[in-house]
This record gives sequence, structure tokens and C-alpha cells, in this order.
Amino acid sequence: MHSRLSTVALGGALLLSTFAATMAVSGDAAPADVVTYRQTVFDGLGSHMKATGMIVKGKAGGVDDLAAHAEAIHATSLLIPSLFPAGTGPDAVKTDALPALWTDHAGFEAAAKKLQDESAKLVTVAKTKDLDAFKAQFGAVGKSCGGCHEHYRADDK
Ligand code: HEC
Repeated sequence: MHSRLSTVALGGALLLSTFAATMAVSGDAAPADVVTYRQTVFDGLGSHMKATGMIVKGKAGGVDDLAAHAEAIHATSLLIPSLFPAGTGPDAVKTDALPALWTDHAGFEAAAKKLQDESAKLVTVAKTKDLDAFKAQFGAVGKSCGGCHEHYRADDK
């Protein structure tokens, strides 16, 4: 009896989590939650860049850590285009994303693609453990962050 009840409870929990997952992928998430989610994702990106910068400057960590950070930066860059659904702009919710992100969506997607390409190269260079080559490519990655922020994010204006 007891075990049957917990099986029912477990089934219910599974159903609920499936429902929650379906909600998120179907784009029904609250706009404020979408903004919190994407800002959190970008904070992660920023943390990996910062940690990488510390390694490059010889402050902490080591060359063996570079690939993990580069891979995280690249994997995260692939999420960027999906983080800005319609209805999550400054007219609807508090965000640093500028309206241009939606009105010039092709430009925004190109800026995201730039980071994806540069960070893919960073992963390749990280695996060679050639620090000088890595530094140069790390600079290119940093530029592609700025390249998007300059046009589509309010803070850097
Ligand atoms: C294709 C565009 C694009 C690229 C590329 C991009 N960002 Fe951003 N980033 C944004 C936008 C837009 C916001 C504002 C998000 C919001 O407030 O809703 C943002 C916000 C942020 C934030 C602030 C998050 C917060 O808590 O408010 C950080 C940190 C950040 N980005 C770091 C980076 C780093 C580091 C890179 C490069 C590795 C990068 N971004 C690349 C568009 C981009």
C-alpha cells in the first residue's frame, strides 16, 4: 500500500517536471524569468572570461585549465540566439537589451555567430597549450563580446 502510494507520488512528480520542461521549451516562461535566466547565463560567460584572464596573467590556475574555460565559453555562446525571444525587450520588462536587438535581428545573430566562431578557435588553441597563441585568440574572443554589447546592450553605451 505504502509503496503503491509513493509510486503514484513519484509519477505525479515526474509528470509535473515534464510539464515544467514543456512549458519552458514552448516559450511560455514569464518575460522577467527569461531576463533573469539570460543574465545568469551571461554572468557565467563573464566568470569564465575572468578566470581565463587570471590564468593568462599568471595570477592563478594554469594552462591545463584553459580548455575547460574555452569549452564553457563556446558552449554558452551557442545558447545566445535563443535567449532573446520576442516580448522580452525593454518595452515589456527591465533589461539591458536594446530594441535594436529585435529590429536588427540579423546583425545581432551575426554578432552571436562571431563569438561562436572565435570561441571555437579558442578551444582549438587551448588544447595546444601554446600560451602566446592563446592570448591572441582570447583577445579576439573579448572583442566579439564588445562587438555585440556596443550595439545591442545598454550598459556599454
Ligand atoms: C550577440 C550578442 C552578445 C554577445 C556576443 C555577448 N553578449 Fe553579453 N550581453 C548581451 C546582451 C544583449 C546583454 C543584456 C542582457 C539583458 O540585460 O537582458 C548582455 C549582458 C551581459 C552581461 C551582464 C549580465 C547581467 O547580469 O546583467 C555580462 C556579464 C555579459 N553580457 C558578458 C559577456 C561576455 C563575457 C561575452 C563574450 C564572451 C558576451 N557577453 C558576449 C549580448 C551579447
